Amino acid sequence: MGKRALLVALCVWSYCLAALCRESPASGISQSSSIAEKKRDFSGIKSKFSLRTSKNPYEDTCYIVPGQEASVAQCNFNLTTKTFMVIHGWTVTGMFESWVSKLVKALYTREPYSNVIVVDWLSRASLHYPVAAAYTKVVGEEVATLIDWMEEQFGYSVDKIHLLGYSLGAHVAGVAGSLTSNKINRITGLDPAGPHFEYADASLRLSPDDAVFVDVLHTYTRGTPDRSIGIQKPVGHIDIYPNGGGFQPGCNIGDALRMIAEKGIHNADQLVKCSHERSIHLFIDSLLYGEKPIMAYRCNSKEAFERGLCLSCRKNRCNNLGYQIKRVRNKRNSKMYLKTRAQMPYKVFHYQVKIHFFGNTNFTKKNQAFLVSLHGTKDESNNIAVILPEISANKTHSFLICSETDIGDLLIVKLRWESDSFFTWSDWWNTPELRIRKVRVKAGETQKKVVFCAPEGFSDLKKGGDFVEFMRCLGKHPNDIESL
Ligand SMILES: *[C@@H]1O[C@H](CO)[C@@H](O)[C@H](O)[C@H]1NC(C)=O
Ligand SMILES: *[C@@H]1O[C@H](CO)[C@@H](O)[C@H](O)[C@H]1NC(C)=O
Ligand SMILES: *[C@@H]1O[C@H](CO)[C@@H](O)[C@H](O)[C@H]1NC(C)=O
Repeated sequence: MGKRALLVALCVWSYCLAALCRESPASGISQSSSIAEKKRDFSGIKSKFSLRTSKNPYEDTCYIVPGQEASVAQCNFNLTTKTFMVIHGWTVTGMFESWVSKLVKALYTREPYSNVIVVDWLSRASLHYPVAAAYTKVVGEEVATLIDWMEEQFGYSVDKIHLLGYSLGAHVAGVAGSLTSNKINRITGLDPAGPHFEYADASLRLSPDDAVFVDVLHTYTRGTPDRSIGIQKPVGHIDIYPNGGGFQPGCNIGDALRMIAEKGIHNADQLVKCSHERSIHLFIDSLLYGEKPIMAYRCNSKEAFERGLCLSCRKNRCNNLGYQIKRVRNKRNSKMYLKTRAQMPYKVFHYQVKIHFFGNTNFTKKNQAFLVSLHGTKDESNNIAVILPEISANKTHSFLICSETDIGDLLIVKLRWESDSFFTWSDWWNTPELRIRKVRVKAGETQKKVVFCAPEGFSDLKKGGDFVEFMRCLGKHPNDIESL
């Protein structure tokens, strides 16, 4: 299959998805008996609850059946430890996607004694999207039935339950959490589905009321709200938008074609789901790399985050992404942001850079490209590209840069002003030099602030010129350690 044919196939696939999402939900899905009745009636339950094991996280070998006490003992459910319930989303193939086993394995790696249950609602999740979306209510009721039964029958506390739902599965978890007799401990929403849910009533989707603590990762919230694959609005106590939440690094067409060339066409569906599924892999990262937690920062907008203005940890403004998140329950939903690498481990180190450009002539230039290099006690990170939307004289500019490695304490900052890709003589003659005295850097991960000085008191940055170097100020003057 040629590249062209492949692209056509993928576009058709996405188009179909979009078209399906626009259709109105199918009517006629069972609405009959009240929830209370259903809780006692185990016979109609179609979802299956597979208790996987740490020895074999890949296969379904034993099912917990609500109403059948013996199944709990048969499956070696450990009543003294916590339980994770993994809930999948819409599926085209009707089979478990490969992430299910990866997540189960990572959960057991982190919590070897826990119980990891995979909720299997594949037969309904593989229907037409609007039908599958409507079924989240029924499946959520079934999950709640299991949880209530476990509590009544075995005294198994809801404090030990953590639901992890991906896409439509996040709304299944939300419905389940809203129906249990007692509030379950935690729900993690992994890019909760957007179509049919963005404007839905809170009782039908994931919301902060569904568990003692609800945390959400938003990784594919692109386009207008009614067309976005992932829900755009915050639906938890903490909502994290990695890389702005729209689209994830490593998920563009070029990357996907490269992967297909290497791994084969059967991975083609990854292209469409790459950003959506990234939410799961970020959570897996948090389970496997617990000693290096990924940090997220509260911010009012992604634009402010891009300017580096939100790297504060005061008053719970920063938090860990994923499993080790600190439970902060704000009065309002709070959106948090961070950048990531394109592969696991996803963690990067965030820095705010603040520079005052002195100039004798009035000028304003748009979309100027700079390169920044950071040298530290452990490592260095070179040629970090950044585009400043607008620069002008006698103004302080602030922007965000990220390092993929831990460079330790900062020692030197280098800066270069790139020429435009299209060279023009007028630009050459008319571009003034930027005079810089100090560069202020704040590290998000360590919260340390360092001021760098030009060796001669000031340095002039010329467009298209060389790197200019700034050393850690010696601190002779009180100004050198002033706060940012
Ligand atoms: C249940 O989990 C506990 C740890 O909380 C462990 O000590 C115990 O051995 C487990 N029981 C079984 C039967 O595996
Ligand atoms: C910038 O400020 C300096 C004094 O700090 C002044 O001499 C200069 O004229 C100002 N430049 C512009 C463009 O206003
Ligand atoms: C630059 O522009 C500002 C107002 O836009 C003006 O007050 C200042 O005098 C100008 N400076 C120079 C050096 O032209």
